[in-house]
Amino acid sequence: MVGCDPRTRNIDVTKIEAAITSKTRAIVPVHLYGLTANMPEVARIAKAHNLFVVEDCAQGIGAKGDRFAVGELSDAVCLSFIIQKNLGCFGDGGAVATNNKDLAADIRKLRNHGSVKRSHHSIGYNSRLDDIHAAVLRVKLKRVDEWSERRRKIAKLYDQGLADASMTLPFTPPGYEHVYHPYVVDSDERDALQAYLQSTGITALTHYPIAIHQQKGFPLGTSRAGRFSAGRGEVRRQRFVAPYVSRAHQSGSRARDRSSLALGREPGGAGPGGVITALLIAWQSH
Ligand SMILES: Cc1ncc(COP(=O)(O)O)c(C=O)c1O
Repeated sequence: MVGCDPRTRNIDVTKIEAAITSKTRAIVPVHLYGLTANMPEVARIAKAHNLFVVEDCAQGIGAKGDRFAVGELSDAVCLSFIIQKNLGCFGDGGAVATNNKDLAADIRKLRNHGSVKRSHHSIGYNSRLDDIHAAVLRVKLKRVDEWSERRRKIAKLYDQGLADASMTLPFTPPGYEHVYHPYVVDSDERDALQAYLQSTGITALTHYPIAIHQQKGFPLGTSRAGRFSAGRGEVRRQRFVAPYVSRAHQSGSRARDRSSLALGREPGGAGPGGVITALLIAWQSH
């Protein structure tokens, strides 16, 4: 594991080379929250060290960098279609995209109990995408770019409405196109802020309450935790709050009033209340 850049929350490319060992086979950048990692730099390092690049694009479908899009600078892209993703099916689903024919053949086998031919097996899983979910995705796929654009517009309103608030807002490097899987802010007063938002009817959730290497059962265990001390520090400092709006709150005037109130603006004004209402509408259109 490599520490993240606190501004982008993505892999800190300046730390990758120091983490490469003789056992390293691939670099797996995660496009966290919908912002693509610095892929040109990841690809350059991978080439220099003869490594694969596998993009974790579970949260970043449709994201773009200044001169690249997700999927252009790697060997494979992993997508998650679980229901809450920007492109979600009606349950569980996912896909791997690659233009490497050998890799594609291996992945096709792995998804189906290690088999592409009846009565021929190797190691594999039951990871087929059910037809009904594929049908849902086929319809939604046509609109995912339009929805990303809408997310960006709503995020811009949040940016404007929260510009003076004492919290760190999402950062987008120049020329990048974020797809805002969630809109995540950092606050030193996370719990109080979260309780306040909840008390006014706005659901605000902590996306990752415990860093992955601090979770019970993490494969590398505590003996190697010291290697991530920089990451641990960052996790302590960055107390993520994701301002979601509960589906339970309809976009009627009551919800609008409560949302506006929560952020200290006049109900119905052009302030953040309106932004939250807009987010509600976006969710309903899904
Ligand atoms: C960044 C990231 N990677 C991987 C996954 C795993 O996706 P799935 O559960 O569909 O395999 C998720 C899903 O929550 C995710 O957000």
